[in-house]
Amino acid sequence: MSNVSVDATESAHNENQPENNTRRRFLTVATSVVGGVGAVGAAVPFIASWNPSARAKAAGADVEVDISGIEPGQLIRVMWRSKPVWVVRRTPEILEQLGKHEGELKDPNSEAEQQPVFAQNRFRSLKDEYLILVGICTHLGCSPQHLKGGAFEEIVEGVPDGFFCPCHGSKFDMAGRVFQNVPAPLNLVVPPYQFVDDATVIIGSEAEAV
Ligand code: FES
Repeated sequence: MSNVSVDATESAHNENQPENNTRRRFLTVATSVVGGVGAVGAAVPFIASWNPSARAKAAGADVEVDISGIEPGQLIRVMWRSKPVWVVRRTPEILEQLGKHEGELKDPNSEAEQQPVFAQNRFRSLKDEYLILVGICTHLGCSPQHLKGGAFEEIVEGVPDGFFCPCHGSKFDMAGRVFQNVPAPLNLVVPPYQFVDDATVIIGSEAEAV
């Protein structure tokens, strides 16, 4: 298994995040390409030139993320299959918000197939605390901004936290559920994932049913 260091901060990596130097915190997230393809590529670079399947595997490999350093309310981003994936640690206050605006959402019960079955719930997650989403707007593919701590109320009255896509004004709550009267047709995608333990999540595959 190879270790791939990813600087994953809310602000530094991200067109998503408004500048807020007082809150900026840097967090290095150690991710791993499961299966060791990356390690081979790093140690013996020429292998990729004669073994194209190794690159193909890396492009589709699961990604292991250490979530132990994510602070309450913080969003980090990792790359999975060339897509940005957000991991957000939601506070009890953020979770409480989710039940208060469901009448303003297009698909509050996640009936469209935008998530694994395990995430077809109000929180759209395996563990309430952690929201994991593909950070790509379901309209035309921009990357929405994470607005928090009351900043989202300028976009949706009475909702302190959420995601706003400035390209054409789509709005999503802290479960990635899309609000009504915006161009995005669907909730944000929840990728397949599983927790290995309290500090580690693998993005790209689900635990097998027992
Ligand atoms: S791409 Fe997000 S609103 Fe159009």
